[in-house]
Amino acid sequence: MSKRLDSFMLYERAKKVIPGGVNSPVRAFDPYPFFVKRGEGSRIFDVDGRNYIDYVMGYGALLFGHVPKFIVERLKRAVEDGFLYGAPTEEEVLLAEKIRELYPSIEMVRLANSGLEATMHAIRLARGYTGRRKILKFEGCFHGSHDSLLVKAGSGALTFSIPSSLGVLEDLAKYTLISRFNDIELTEQIVKENRDDLAAIIVEPVAVNMGLIKPRIDFLKALRELADYSGAVLIFDEVVTGLRLSPGGAQQYYGVKADLTTLGKALGGGLPISAFGGREDIMKNLAPAGKIYASGTYSGNPLSTKAALTVLDYVRENQNIYLEMRSKVEKLCKAIQDIAIDKNLKITVNYVESMFQVFFTDGEVLSYDDVKKSDIELFKRYFHKLLENGVFIPPSQFETCFISTAHTHQDIELTINAFQNSF
Ligand SMILES: Cc1ncc(COP(=O)(O)O)c(C=O)c1O
Repeated sequence: MSKRLDSFMLYERAKKVIPGGVNSPVRAFDPYPFFVKRGEGSRIFDVDGRNYIDYVMGYGALLFGHVPKFIVERLKRAVEDGFLYGAPTEEEVLLAEKIRELYPSIEMVRLANSGLEATMHAIRLARGYTGRRKILKFEGCFHGSHDSLLVKAGSGALTFSIPSSLGVLEDLAKYTLISRFNDIELTEQIVKENRDDLAAIIVEPVAVNMGLIKPRIDFLKALRELADYSGAVLIFDEVVTGLRLSPGGAQQYYGVKADLTTLGKALGGGLPISAFGGREDIMKNLAPAGKIYASGTYSGNPLSTKAALTVLDYVRENQNIYLEMRSKVEKLCKAIQDIAIDKNLKITVNYVESMFQVFFTDGEVLSYDDVKKSDIELFKRYFHKLLENGVFIPPSQFETCFISTAHTHQDIELTINAFQNSF
C-alpha cells in the first residue's frame, strides 16, 4: 500500500489541523487511511485512483449503497425548497406517522440528527420519566459518544463501571451498570439488586460494535421481562438494526417490543437523521408538552426528513431487498468459511441478514469476552490484505461489515476471490 501517495500527503496535512487526521477515531488505521474522492453503488474511490468494494457502507448507514438514485432525485427537488426553516413542516408529521406504522412500539417520535443524540435523549427521558438514576448497558455495546455511556467495566467485577474516556466524570459513570451481552443470569442479578433505582436498560438488539453478535434466542425476551419486573424503561438502540434487519428492525425480526427505540443510520440512507420514540405515556413528557428537555437546530431539517421519507417508502415497497441481501451474505460467509478450512485457518464467522464479521478465533462468539480472544494482529494483516485486493472492510475487529442493495453477485464473487488471496 506504499504507493498511496496522495492519501499520504493529505494525511500529513490533516494531522496538522485535525486531531489524529480524522473526524471520527475508527476511520484511522496504520500506516494511514486512504482519503475518499467519491462513492458509487457498492464502490468507494480514493484520491490515489484506486477503488474498493465497500463493506463499511458508512458504518451501516448506506443500506442502498452510495448515491442511490431514488434518494438523489428526491434531494434534487428538495434543495430548491430550502435547507432549514426553524419551524415545523408537514414532512416531519408524515415521517413520524410512517415510522409509527413500521414500528408498532413507537406511538410518538422525535427526530434528531445522530445516533448519539437519539440515545442521549432517550436516556434523559427514561431518567426523567422514572425519577431514577441508574442505567444498565452491556459490555461491548456502543450507543454513541456521550458521557453516560462512555463507560467500561472496571478491573474488578464486570458490573462496576469506570469512564472509558478522560473527561467523563466517575460520579456519572457510577450510575451506569454493566452486564454481559447474552448473559441472562447476570443481568437478572443486576436488575434485582438495583430494582428501585434502575431507570433504563439499553441494548443493541444485535450487537454490532464488538464485531457482530446475535442475541441468544431468549435474551431479548428476558430483557423485556426484567424491564417489566423492575419498572425500568427498555431501550432498544436500533440505530444500526432499524430498517436493516427488516423494515421494522429487530423488533419485527425477533418479535420483542421496546418501550423506547432509537433509529439512525439507514433511516436517512446516508443523510444525517435519527429518531427516538416509543410509548406515548413516556414520550409526552418531552418539552414543550412536558418537563424533559431535548432540542436541536437541525432536528427534522427538510433535506434529511425528505431523504428519510423516501427511504421508508422504498423499504415498504421493495421488501425483496432483504431476501436478496441475506442470500448474498450467506453465500459470501459460507465461501469464507470454506476457504478458511481449506487453508487451515481458525476463524468464526457471524452473520445475520445484511451484516457479517470474521473473528480470528475458533469457537462461538457470543459476548465481548469471546471477541477479546480473537487474534487482533492477524485481523490487522487480514484487513490490509483485503485492501490490497480491492475490498474495504472496517479496520477493527470490533466493528461489523455491511452489504447494501447495490452489492451485485459479481461483487460477491470478486470478494470471495479477494478472501482467497488474503487468507
Ligand atoms: C448501535 C449504535 N448506536 C448509536 C451509535 C451512535 O451513532 P452516531 O455515530 O450517529 O452518533 C452508533 C454508532 O456507530 C451505533 O452503532
